Amino acid sequence: MTTAPDDQFAADVDLDTALRHPLDPLDGDEIARAARIIAAAFAQDEEVRYERIELLEPAKDVVRAWTPGARVERRARFSFYRRGRIGVTEGVLSLDKGAVEESRDLPEARPMIMLEEFLEIEACVKAHPDFIAACRRRGIENIDLVCVDPWSAGEFGVPGEEGKRLSHTFCWVRTRADENFYAHPIEGVNAVVDVDNMVVIRVDDYYRDREPLKVPMTESNYDARFFDRFQEPGKPLDIIQKDGPSFTVEGRKLSWMGWDVRVGFNGREGLVLHQVGYTQDGERRPVMHRASLAEMVVPYGSPDNAHHRKNVFDIGEYGLGKLANSLTLGCDCLGAIRYMDAWVNGVDGTPVKIENAICIHEEDFGLGWKHWDFRTDATEVRRMRRLVISSISTVGNYEYASYWYLYQHGMIEFEMKATGIINTVGCEPGKPSKYGVEVLPGVQGQIHQHLFCARLDMEVDGPQNSVVECNVVVPPMGEGNPYGNAFYEEQTVLKTEKQARRTIDPSTMRYWKVVNPNVRNAVGKPTAYKLEPMSAVTAFTNPESPSGKRGGFIYNHLWVTPFHPDERYPAGEYVNQCEGGQGLPAWTAADRPVENADVVLWHVFGLHHPVRPEDFPVQPVVTCGFKLMPSGFFDRNPMIDLPPAKNKASCCV
Ligand code: CO
Repeated sequence: MTTAPDDQFAADVDLDTALRHPLDPLDGDEIARAARIIAAAFAQDEEVRYERIELLEPAKDVVRAWTPGARVERRARFSFYRRGRIGVTEGVLSLDKGAVEESRDLPEARPMIMLEEFLEIEACVKAHPDFIAACRRRGIENIDLVCVDPWSAGEFGVPGEEGKRLSHTFCWVRTRADENFYAHPIEGVNAVVDVDNMVVIRVDDYYRDREPLKVPMTESNYDARFFDRFQEPGKPLDIIQKDGPSFTVEGRKLSWMGWDVRVGFNGREGLVLHQVGYTQDGERRPVMHRASLAEMVVPYGSPDNAHHRKNVFDIGEYGLGKLANSLTLGCDCLGAIRYMDAWVNGVDGTPVKIENAICIHEEDFGLGWKHWDFRTDATEVRRMRRLVISSISTVGNYEYASYWYLYQHGMIEFEMKATGIINTVGCEPGKPSKYGVEVLPGVQGQIHQHLFCARLDMEVDGPQNSVVECNVVVPPMGEGNPYGNAFYEEQTVLKTEKQARRTIDPSTMRYWKVVNPNVRNAVGKPTAYKLEPMSAVTAFTNPESPSGKRGGFIYNHLWVTPFHPDERYPAGEYVNQCEGGQGLPAWTAADRPVENADVVLWHVFGLHHPVRPEDFPVQPVVTCGFKLMPSGFFDRNPMIDLPPAKNKASCCV
């Protein structure tokens, strides 16, 4: 539907455009205004619940043609649902015109599970008599101490679950107030909640006909208030930049050591990098139009009790942006820090400000390059720095900390630091299942994976790029390889989407390059960036299984698509309880050409996580990620002309 422009809304358009860029995320006023426009168009007598209100990013040609101060119409994408019934209405509205421009109803789609629903789900489960009875059977008298986590339900075809938006919950209990409940899993009790009506539809007790597993009651805390002594800390380690950091910020644009990038953010993906480019000799060269972590899934390997239902898509089903932390100076962030706030929408449409959601700083990265000439005894050495853009999100038990790094030698890196608390499951003390590792007597952590998909909308020296696969070829020993030492790299252009569904191959040291066939470097080759797949993971969920179908993107480490503005999420736009087949597997079935085209690279990487006792009670950071390295983008080492320097604050001890 389309509604006529409404003067009431057109009146308060903010025309102050001094620092505004077309890709700047919606601010709080814009989110509030969008919610009012939606409510006026749709609310009638039903309660509208806002899933997402975010910037509709203008077309690339509009963005590229933009000049500072120019006014670009501000438009928003939105999706909302209504209390009491499934389905989503999505559309586009103009903030300038104050009108909904297009919308459509998706009667089967389920919106994400919203932060505001987490505690409502817990409260409704804890009030249910069957749930209370299951707790009592396990010796739990004080239901107030029970904690219920609102896991997404997936689509398993369970009778009675159809036609609803659900949470399939898991639960734990505290021994006392604020104590770490994850040390005390209540095994085999799973309440299933109809989230739209906030009612429990079923309480499964897997021990209904047998003696329930005892709830392990050994405490294992991480909160400082539960410690009466601490290990010796180190001496102060301060990062001091008395002249300030080397980056500059104008609006949301960061400039640093030749690099510039615009910092975006939305409720689903969290941190987004726009328009990453490098300026050399006064010429700005684009590298990426847009980069984000677009989806992730955490499949667990245990078929015991209800654990097969744990396949959570933390981005598509919850939203990393909505769950971003306000970061703390001197704790999350060390040194000379520049923060940016983020705005997301609350379920009632009110704008929610996450203060200090994005941390920007500069880090020493050790040795940059060095050479000692043994003939002249002359040494040249340069250190290297990197610019760090980061944010941290808490999704239930886990923390996902996203770090984008820009380096002086032209590399772009993404690093995911995963921490937080493993999902714990009860077991008989000393007898974890083969799917788990005991971390505390009677407490096991099950084998699982964290599979991420980065969406990398590349523009290496311009929008027209090709993707080339590089494999090492070893000629057979004999004529052409008489000494058996021969090996070389063979490059193959991935011409279509199906050809570009690829996995890593350690036997050929496979990697991929994004090349610009229209721009040549000093040695006559296309300029390029290579993708180093450092953390490719083999997925073990069966592709035909309920969870495998929903997470079809995990079965390749590389996908390439021609840019389409609506192809944003590798598992589809509405992931919660979908049947699967959406997103990358569906789009790439069209087998569109991707040679010398405006390509989007999708890289799947992650963490394979057989749990260790050291992961409890809070897992020390483990990391995964990928690198985008210049590979013939520069004609020489781009940091060769850094002036020599000696750090004067360094001292001998
Ligand atoms: Co893990």
